[in-house]
Amino acid sequence: MKPNEDIKQVLFTEQQIKDRAKEIATLIDKKYGDTPVTLVGILKGAYAFTADIAKAMHNPQTRVELMVVSSYKNDTSLKEVQVILDLKESAQGRHLILIEDIVDTGRTLAKIKSLLLERGAASVEIATMCTKPSRREFPINIDYPAFEVPNEHVIGYGLDYNEVYRFLPYIATMTKEAYEKYKK
Ligand code: IMP
Ligand code: MG
Repeated sequence: MKPNEDIKQVLFTEQQIKDRAKEIATLIDKKYGDTPVTLVGILKGAYAFTADIAKAMHNPQTRVELMVVSSYKNDTSLKEVQVILDLKESAQGRHLILIEDIVDTGRTLAKIKSLLLERGAASVEIATMCTKPSRREFPINIDYPAFEVPNEHVIGYGLDYNEVYRFLPYIATMTKEAYEKYKK
């Protein structure tokens, strides 16, 4: 079956996403120079965007770490944020850049950021592929936002709807029918 039937609108193409990732990498390179910096991709959603940013970095002291935190059921934010896979190296004294797929209520990142600061990170900045500012409940500063999206469930480029359509090479909205079809 063609994915197209379920796609309402393509919001951002692969090229647009890669270009923004490059711009963000350039900003991070400018800010940190050759000071060690750790990109922390939040899985699963940020796997593709994290790779794009990482590949566009020039700082030889760039490290890449990955975290898995608890996710979603349908389109409703779970109340608790759980760390399922933690950093391999200690956060102590490190300059961390958290990379998210999307900031919705802000709960996930607010929680992870304060946890990492408590562990002694030298600094914690936030980059996100998408942001839904209208949905924010937990005020959080986003240092490197890539794209603003409408208050609608978006899929692709790492973003899923109940685990489907994470693989799409673009960010899109879904039809009402698809929304029902893949509902849990
Ligand atoms: P927050 O804690 O409410 O900011 O939720 C952030 C997490 O919810 C993201 O990392 C995504 O995994 C998920 N999420 C929120 N909105 C969407 C969406 O439109 N599409 C796919 N995942 C979403
Ligand atoms: Mg996520």
